[in-house]
Amino acid sequence: MKIEYNKDLTRLNTFGMKVSCACYVEFGSVGELAEIYKESEVRKFPQPFFHIGGGSNLLFTKDFSGTVFHSAIRFIRVCPRSGEQARAFPSGSVGEAAGSGCCEVEAGSGVLWDDFCSWCSDRGLWGPENLSGIPGEVGAAAVQNIGAYGVEVKDIVRKVRCFDVVTGEERWLSVKDCRYGYRDSVFKDTAKGRYVVTSVVFRLSENSGPRLDYGHVRKAVAEYAGTGPLTPSQVRKTILEIRNSKLPDPAVVGSAGSFFKNPVVPKSSYDIVENYAKGKYGQDYAVPHFDAGSGFVKIPAAWLIEQCGWKGYREGNAGVYENQPLVIVNATGNATPDEILALERRITDSVRNLFGITLHPEVEHI
Ligand code: EPU
Repeated sequence: MKIEYNKDLTRLNTFGMKVSCACYVEFGSVGELAEIYKESEVRKFPQPFFHIGGGSNLLFTKDFSGTVFHSAIRFIRVCPRSGEQARAFPSGSVGEAAGSGCCEVEAGSGVLWDDFCSWCSDRGLWGPENLSGIPGEVGAAAVQNIGAYGVEVKDIVRKVRCFDVVTGEERWLSVKDCRYGYRDSVFKDTAKGRYVVTSVVFRLSENSGPRLDYGHVRKAVAEYAGTGPLTPSQVRKTILEIRNSKLPDPAVVGSAGSFFKNPVVPKSSYDIVENYAKGKYGQDYAVPHFDAGSGFVKIPAAWLIEQCGWKGYREGNAGVYENQPLVIVNATGNATPDEILALERRITDSVRNLFGITLHPEVEHI
């Protein structure tokens, strides 16, 4: 276990906010986590507690006065079928454990999400390839229900192993128990603060094949991979190329990915947007939107923000990414939380004033 006081968090949040926490604890096993939460021990750590993953979906709005916890539980293993021992699944040995076509793989919460995606693709296993390149770690992926290119992590999660901080015991949550929604789960809602995710079991497949129906993914894959049967690695590489062309690399420009959720609005609100667009661009113009069912429509926040003129905008050290206006960036590396918050407010206000639609942040504010 690693314990540090007055820890600088700049490198532990992809936005690059220069903030600190009173105490930082990294645990490497469920046993260490249980040790921390023992009644005699837990009082020694400054409150409140906050668990972070890769810090890639957070905006620290100021120094954190409590304890930040981080999982260093890092393993990936194929789950044994009944009567079998857990075994390694070496790179390239496609299918041994997946003989029947499906297998379950468990990954520790501290594994880098993209390392998990790469591990699966290297072994010819379908499942997370469309989610390649998303920053963050496995535990946070299961909390946040990360999603991209037509897939959400809930589609491949089988169950989640948690530590219950109230009872001090381990507990498995089925995918149903996790109550997944769009970037949402029980861990962000009624069970917030109660369960610490320690590992996740995924259901993967040797032969389920690619999911290419989102946007121009099919076309991009065809260009990249040519003809012949596709492999998970080919889809993964295509997705990484698409992402790199649209989203900033957090190692180069600080950001937390999509800053806002895509709003889901009643059809009547969408009609106002459509009237605006047809008035401005002509009757043939098609506003990007998706049917969300029950008379609701999902509109890309990126489009709404672009209409308000924010694409590529810079204000002091903060800015709006030029290729994807859904992403607020720490343009110089020196942006303060207040600069990001001020820009967030101005964007939200302008979209509300022009379209009557309120954007909600996807990024968690701490
Ligand atoms: N668009 C514009 N202008 C732009 C860019 C996009 O108008 O400059 C419009 C286009 O109509 C485009 C639409 O927005 O078709 C959707 O854009 P995109 O496919 O890039 O996806 P998104 O809705 O903006 C969501 C996720 C991303 C994920 C992508 C790809 C949310 C909040 N964001 O973005 O997730 O990578 O889909 O599947 O749901 C993240 O969560 O951090 C994240 C990056």
